[in-house]
Amino acid sequence: MSDRRRCALLGFGHIAATTHLPALAACGITPVAILETNPERQALARQMLPQASVYGALQPLLAQTAPELVDVCTPPHLHAAQVQQALRAGAHVLCEKPLVTELQQLHALVQQARAAGRVLGCVHNWTAAPIVRAVGRLIAEGSLGALQHIDARTARTQPAAAAGAAHSWRGDPQLAGGGIVFDHGWHGMSILLRWAGGRPTQVDAQLATRRHHHLAVEDSCEARIKFAGGV
Ligand SMILES: NC(=O)c1ccc[n+]([C@@H]2O[C@H](COP(=O)([O-])OP(=O)(O)OC[C@H]3O[C@@H](n4cnc5c(N)ncnc54)[C@H](O)[C@@H]3O)[C@@H](O)[C@H]2O)c1
Repeated sequence: MSDRRRCALLGFGHIAATTHLPALAACGITPVAILETNPERQALARQMLPQASVYGALQPLLAQTAPELVDVCTPPHLHAAQVQQALRAGAHVLCEKPLVTELQQLHALVQQARAAGRVLGCVHNWTAAPIVRAVGRLIAEGSLGALQHIDARTARTQPAAAAGAAHSWRGDPQLAGGGIVFDHGWHGMSILLRWAGGRPTQVDAQLATRRHHHLAVEDSCEARIKFAGGV
């Protein structure tokens, strides 16, 4: 990138403040602009990033700060439109998972990024975990023999908390896109796609709400997935 400092961070909630800021800093990047609509989080952004401009709307941010990189950390229902606007403004985009909540949004964004010659990346942080990489290496070098079956389990007792939100978007299908499949299935699938080889050819899944009956989304999922590689 020609100017690695011109980064805009969209959404200054939990993951932006605790994880993206340090990760950007490790790359020598300090955001010059923040998009945030919650006044308390705006105040925190001003405190933590006194040199950055804080905006409540995306278009003025893009027009006035012309970021080269836009890092999207807002709730899922906002991702597709914000990524689209950022690409249209000429920025490279890193977006938190889930990148989109509808498949057709994905195709449109990939086409847009390719046409604009911009990088569009989604955060697949679990694939960078040392143990996940180590298993990937064992599979690739054949130490485990021909892979036949992967048993992957994720156990949570409650949904992840959102920063300062009285009502977390995670329980609202309109905002989250879905329940645990969207929130954590995204991570599991990002690993399985790398380990299993090829794309899924068959999926049998059962979604259920077993514990968090006050949420309007599923809290459990059991899925059997067949991959083209035979796993
Ligand atoms: N990769 C991971 O391991 C991981 C972990 C946690 C969250 N996430 C993802 O990060 C994203 C954010 O999650 P979070 O836990 O930080 O949620 P959060 O609720 O703590 O943060 C979202 C922030 O966006 C702000 N916001 C809401 N609407 C906005 C708008 N229109 N414009 C600007 N800002 C707006 C909220 O005020 C809030 O501060 C989600 O997509 C989530 O799935 C990823």
